[in-house]
Amino acid sequence: MISILGAGAIGQLLAHKLTEASIDCQLIVRAGTQYRSEWLMIQQEQQTYHEIPTITAQDCDELGQVWVCVKANQLEGALKSVSHAIQDTTKVVFFQNGMGHDKVAAKYLQPAQMYFASNTHGAFKKAAQSVVYAGVGQVSFGHLELSQQPDFLDPETLNAVNGSWHEHIQTVLWQKLFINAVVNPLTAIYQCRNGELLDADKKSNVLSLIAENQRFANTLKLGISDHLKDATLAVIEATAKNQSSMLQDVLNQKTTEINAINGYLLDQAAKHQFPTPHNWRLWSDFHIAHPPLKSIADDKAKQL
Ligand code: PAF
Repeated sequence: MISILGAGAIGQLLAHKLTEASIDCQLIVRAGTQYRSEWLMIQQEQQTYHEIPTITAQDCDELGQVWVCVKANQLEGALKSVSHAIQDTTKVVFFQNGMGHDKVAAKYLQPAQMYFASNTHGAFKKAAQSVVYAGVGQVSFGHLELSQQPDFLDPETLNAVNGSWHEHIQTVLWQKLFINAVVNPLTAIYQCRNGELLDADKKSNVLSLIAENQRFANTLKLGISDHLKDATLAVIEATAKNQSSMLQDVLNQKTTEINAINGYLLDQAAKHQFPTPHNWRLWSDFHIAHPPLKSIADDKAKQL
């Protein structure tokens, strides 16, 4: 049984894909909200209903495999809410944007229990129990220390979500982080769709950040710096009509993932004594445009 912690867009989408493939799964949801057993997935014109079991965090016990699909800033609260059900044998897969989640999770899990996933499926929530599957992507799974594919991520499970095992997930996560670190805060500052970042008045800013990220990736010897520019521009073009998740968060007055994405990048750069003036400028512009929300407690309360 795969337990999906968080019924946001990605949590719902993965639950639909697993259910479609007849893989046992359940959604772990917030207490106090009534859920029907039917969940809706909309893909182009097609509407598909699936019966997906739901359970509240407090009612969980002995979790075998958990896919954590809450936002990065809700991770700690979400893990705490199921900590009573986490055993030494529980395997946990993190689907958050950004990096550094292993440090946040260290209070609840051993490093060997932590797996990471990088998702490129596009989805957004239409209502509490309906999700729009906006773009077919894939999921890369991996572990920071173990290179061998574990038994619990069997071929059926991987196929169901268009997934594959990566021996070097760190590299995949860094590449996504570098892309998110450009697209997300800039779209939130300019309040524009992803594609508009390539407009003449914004493009030079995008290119300076990419160039700085390429130099840093090179310092980290990630082997991705040569194609980071093409990869970043390709994501901007492929998602041109989308509002980035960070823009959606600021428009909805929710806490963003800026710390897990750009904060992590700046911390790592400082650790490596690598100068990142463009990223610092971006950090400061973002915080001038969007000062931290006073009540992050509100967000924590809505943790699932
Ligand atoms: O966070 C997001 O919105 C997405 O990861 C991406 C790739 C920037 C597309 O909008």
